[in-house]
Amino acid sequence: MTPSPEETPPAADASKRRAAEAALALVRDVRFLGVGTGSTIRYFIEGLAGIQTHFEAAVASSEQTAALLRQAGIRVLDLNETGDVDLYVDGADAFDPHFRLIKGHGGALLREKILATASRKFVVVVDSRKRFDRLADSVAVPVEVLPFARSFTARQIVRLGGAPALREHYLTDNGNQILDILHLPLNDPPRMEIQLKSIPGVIESGIFAHRVPDIIFVAGGSSTVESLERPDF
Ligand code: 5RP
Repeated sequence: MTPSPEETPPAADASKRRAAEAALALVRDVRFLGVGTGSTIRYFIEGLAGIQTHFEAAVASSEQTAALLRQAGIRVLDLNETGDVDLYVDGADAFDPHFRLIKGHGGALLREKILATASRKFVVVVDSRKRFDRLADSVAVPVEVLPFARSFTARQIVRLGGAPALREHYLTDNGNQILDILHLPLNDPPRMEIQLKSIPGVIESGIFAHRVPDIIFVAGGSSTVESLERPDF
């Protein structure tokens, strides 16, 4: 993914901040707030610190996010204590016009998918480099696998047409490993999401094609932030 000239890394950082700040306006009358993981979400957490009275507690999608929330003085609860969350805000690595996502480059995809699915409203905040016409032309698909079954799952993924690479020296918060899959045939993302999940040993994939976001805030080169609502296909 080559950044366009107007989206050099500092500009991309400013875009991430603007997208994250746009989502803060939705944190009103919220009891339980799910919080994703990643560099865009760091800006969201910074903003949350100033509006703590707008929600009761947060549920974190990773240990890293839980630590950041606590540092900001925000109460963190376990999903088992809260039930479904009212609002879940997270970043993404890629999205397409159907609002299907690839997530997990930060390694938190399993808890992220659970929180997205357990949320009444799912909101994604991204800079415009994450927008693609087709997920097939975007980024590698992370897949969380049980270490015991790593080689087996990798062979099954090769049979599906993908080229898995083990994320070296990395364990997820759940004690599992990540395979990053290149060249996965992604003409039908919902189908591929199900196919991956049906491999014994695959815990979860970073394809979010069933629970897609309700709103995506996209910030690019200009100062405006686009607010995209989920299309009704
Ligand atoms: C973590 C994720 C992140 O949301 C995704 O990687 C985007 O991160 P960033 O905001 O740093 O670009 O899925 O597992």
